[in-house]
Amino acid sequence: MASTKSRVVDVHTHMYPPSYIDILRSRSEIPVVRSFPQAPDHPRLVLLAAEQPALDAALADPTAAVQPPGRPLTPHYADLAQKLHFMDTHAIDISVLSLANPWLDFVAPDDAPGLARQVNAEFDAMCASRPGRLFFFAALPLTAPAPAILESVAHVRGLPHCRGVILGTSGLGEGLDDPALLPILRRLADADLPVFLHPHYGLPNEVWGPRAAAEYGHVLPLALGFPVETTVAVARMYLAGVFDAVPALRMLLAHSGGTLPFLAGRIESCIVHDGQLLREGRAGKGKGRRTIWDVLREQVYLDAVVYSEVGLKAAIGAAGGAGRLMFGTDHPFFPPLESDEQGEWESVGLNARAVMDAVGEDSEEARGIMGENAVRILRLEMDQPATL
Ligand code: URA
Ligand code: ZN
Repeated sequence: MASTKSRVVDVHTHMYPPSYIDILRSRSEIPVVRSFPQAPDHPRLVLLAAEQPALDAALADPTAAVQPPGRPLTPHYADLAQKLHFMDTHAIDISVLSLANPWLDFVAPDDAPGLARQVNAEFDAMCASRPGRLFFFAALPLTAPAPAILESVAHVRGLPHCRGVILGTSGLGEGLDDPALLPILRRLADADLPVFLHPHYGLPNEVWGPRAAAEYGHVLPLALGFPVETTVAVARMYLAGVFDAVPALRMLLAHSGGTLPFLAGRIESCIVHDGQLLREGRAGKGKGRRTIWDVLREQVYLDAVVYSEVGLKAAIGAAGGAGRLMFGTDHPFFPPLESDEQGEWESVGLNARAVMDAVGEDSEEARGIMGENAVRILRLEMDQPATL
């Protein structure tokens, strides 16, 4: 029977299973896990291209008093008990776990299918160990040949706790507007597996300027590079007609769609005023062309990981209502730096506060965004059939 208490669901929450951490430990290039004497408490997890200068500096002189690269690899990244503790601390009833970036994007084509199978099975087993509390978005072996990717879709479709797949923006190497990706998106759509689109690659380091590596921490790549990457990826899909080609495709966009809620109007205006698109019959109003607004309202869900009321209100507007927004934490990223990691996280509080401020504390909309939308959209009821 459905509970009358509204549930809190975290749809944006990552883990690296221990086997994946082992792979990162065995590597010498980003993504990599490595220990540095400057930071003896935890090994460091170095993920982003923007962290290359800091990695180079630390490797050039391992004893120098430089800021070590990356972030501390605490148990929050790989330990299931720690995930549950985090959920309990923040009154999160259900988490939809996903492998964190860069997923299997760097894995050699021959190794990717086997690793995907193992990682996805590990996620399903983790979920099975906490009935009703955990589901997951699977990772796909995108460097492998298409038949192996399709086989992986079939595999995860049969895992009882899988509720979709997490994808980065690189697709098969040419981005998400690559026609070669269409059969895979079609298969995902047919299998009722939504795509959780998440950034990793950001923008080229030159964009951040010569002072960034030494002075600006991770702020520019994370605050700006990530959301712009997502925005570009979805705009490319839209311009290529992917949403029309796969009308059953459903996408959940990380970080409230990057900057799409703010820029959709500009994208639409640039289309309508583009001579080439007009000549090619791709810009006209009417004639069945779905605007980017239509696509956002019909095929896209947004997480509520935007940290402010202003951004969240824009996201609700762009998605066509609070019913398409879903709360997330981005755990284990953005831990508190000045208080106990085992206590409440300010980053979580900011996102929850934004929901309350945007739609009102005891409102139906708030209950929806905080969890009930995810239960409905991702079919998280315990007593439903295991497969979608
Ligand atoms: N940094 C990352 O690398 N990934 C996230 O999901 C959040 C922050
Ligand atoms: Zn994330």
